Amino acid sequence: MLSAARTSFVRRGFTTVHGFTGAVGNTPLIYLKHLSEKTGAHIFGKAEFQNPGGSVKDRAALGVVRDAEDRALLKPGGTVVEGTAGNTGIGLAHVCRARGYKCVIFMPDTQSQEKIDLLRMLGAEVHPVPAVAYENPANYNHQARDYAKDHPNTIWTNQFDNIANTHAHYLSTGPEIWEQTKGRVDAFICSTGTGGTLAGVGKALKQKSQGKTQVWLADPPGSVLASYINSGGTLKDRTGSSITEGIGQGRITDNLAQFVQEIDGAFTVADEKSIRMVYELLETEGLYLGASSALNVVASVELALRLGKGSHVVTVLCDGAYRYQSRLFSKKWLQSKGLEDAIPKHLKKYTVLE
Ligand SMILES: Cc1ncc(COP(=O)(O)O)c(C=O)c1O
Repeated sequence: MLSAARTSFVRRGFTTVHGFTGAVGNTPLIYLKHLSEKTGAHIFGKAEFQNPGGSVKDRAALGVVRDAEDRALLKPGGTVVEGTAGNTGIGLAHVCRARGYKCVIFMPDTQSQEKIDLLRMLGAEVHPVPAVAYENPANYNHQARDYAKDHPNTIWTNQFDNIANTHAHYLSTGPEIWEQTKGRVDAFICSTGTGGTLAGVGKALKQKSQGKTQVWLADPPGSVLASYINSGGTLKDRTGSSITEGIGQGRITDNLAQFVQEIDGAFTVADEKSIRMVYELLETEGLYLGASSALNVVASVELALRLGKGSHVVTVLCDGAYRYQSRLFSKKWLQSKGLEDAIPKHLKKYTVLE
């Protein structure tokens, strides 16, 4: 329901949005010209880094809070708690300020001071806790859940297994892509953390296209999902690890579980290709993006080559490189990850940090 203040602006013909939450979504779909020319296909990136909190997770954050409000689990003045080390916490901190809730974040104490500081600057109460395995009751996710149990009018948003996350993308991101391409989308591909983006967008596009749009998963090394999908449902051991953040999974989350049977295929993208694409997107498209976005673009190029010339492939540009720049553009860090040689000579000018 529109608030009185908002309806009066609408009546007066203003083309504004209402506050932070009104600015979430409706992001542009960017035609990636250089890569499209190179492949003979049409490759598009959904500019989720343009959400007001800077990432695709603003949609999920708003979705889980709205769902809790609609179900009267969260009442005015309440508290939202989540276990997160990244973009979801940032999205939630913004949404909580905008809607008058307290935001409490539990995160592993291995995270950078910048992340802790940023969440605190956004008004969240941050609890860095020892980084222990999921099986250990002291794991940050379980501590977030227990905090909610122990405090009144407090909800644990549980981003991995709360399907309000998927629903947010089903209602917004998916239909936006369909509208923006006028239904000409042969395939959608992205990586997953919670699985909310892939499942929500995938469901919407499959329904709107009556099953014609293919939906693929792109995985970083160290994640089990690509092998799970390609082997028809066997959870294989994790091998390797990745420099990408916010993506890769060791289990089928509830968000992914409701869509996993409909996924058409999956493949793993090596870190060498992802880091090279971070630099290539800067050089050829002027886009300054994080490694998960770069991985998505590598995957969309590979899928476009499989589908052939003239195909339309859409992926997600999840967030900007700002949150990772001290790593992605540092010589020392690239060396420490054995990735220095992955950057071609003509792109080395972007490695400006020691
Ligand atoms: C940078 C980045 N990319 C991609 C994702 C994956 O999105 P989802 O959780 O919807 O699968 C995340 C999730 O936190 C993220 O932080």
